Amino acid sequence: MTQYPHMLAPLDLGFTTLKNRILMGSMHTGLEETKDWNRVAEFYGERARGGVALIVTGGMAPSREGGVFPGAAGLFTDEDIANHKVVTDRVHEGGGKIAMQILHAGRYAYGPECVSSSAIKSPISPFPPKELDEEGIEKQIQDFVTATVRAREAGYDGVEIMGSEGYFLNQFIVTHVNKRTDRWGGSYENRIRLPIEVVRRCREAVGKDFIIIYRLSMIDLVPNGPPMMRWCNSRKRLKKPAPRLSTPASAGTRPAFPPSPPRSPAAPSPG
Ligand SMILES: Cc1cc2nc3c(=O)[nH]c(=O)nc-3n(C[C@H](O)[C@H](O)[C@H](O)COP(=O)(O)O)c2cc1C
Repeated sequence: MTQYPHMLAPLDLGFTTLKNRILMGSMHTGLEETKDWNRVAEFYGERARGGVALIVTGGMAPSREGGVFPGAAGLFTDEDIANHKVVTDRVHEGGGKIAMQILHAGRYAYGPECVSSSAIKSPISPFPPKELDEEGIEKQIQDFVTATVRAREAGYDGVEIMGSEGYFLNQFIVTHVNKRTDRWGGSYENRIRLPIEVVRRCREAVGKDFIIIYRLSMIDLVPNGPPMMRWCNSRKRLKKPAPRLSTPASAGTRPAFPPSPPRSPAAPSPG
């Protein structure tokens, strides 16, 4: 540990302190859809007891259309909130904190209701997305806000807004997918508007004392994908509406890589 002297030092976020700098990144395990919330609680509880300061859950859908596959878990009902409370309580008992990742799959969603910035089908889903109009975009923003408010009700210490790896918010930022000519497309200012608006509105809804993390790609391996410096700039811009942390993600808006076979709804693995 002498090589990493700060690793176990507390991290003061202003309104709360993480007991060390160890964050467990988001990993959807598939347990979330088994409805066995005690198992999910035990999975994360064990990691909290092991010393992780902040756990980020696997991606939770903000809406039915935003789920990675039909039936993807999310905080839709009071029963869902009660189930998630079992998880957050177990993590807190173990001495850790936990943030819920909100993952909107956009055109990656494996379902006919999927939506995106433009009606351009992704190579990993057979379903072409519907291009959102103003009203549709407002609904998606509100869904992020609702998920954030419900996450707090369920005892989470924060949320992570999934903005990387080619998912919904990323689909607005890259010209590879976003072909819009309205205020949500065209210039970089316009393309970054939706992520900023989502963070701003979520922060407004929960106030200052709640962790908001924004996960962003460090590089997008698509034609005309923003270079690294652009992402550094995005990070600064996204911090303005005040997320407390940002988690860098690997990369990628498909088809940066050779097309993958479609994911089976039975074996989800966002990420
Ligand atoms: C099984 C599995 C599920 C994942 N689920 C998510 C997810 O729900 N949300 C997300 O942002 N990343 C997800 N990821 C990506 C990880 O957070 C991480 O970025 C990726 O594993 C690369 O990190 P590594 O090189 O340390 O494995 C997942 C990864 C794996 C292996």
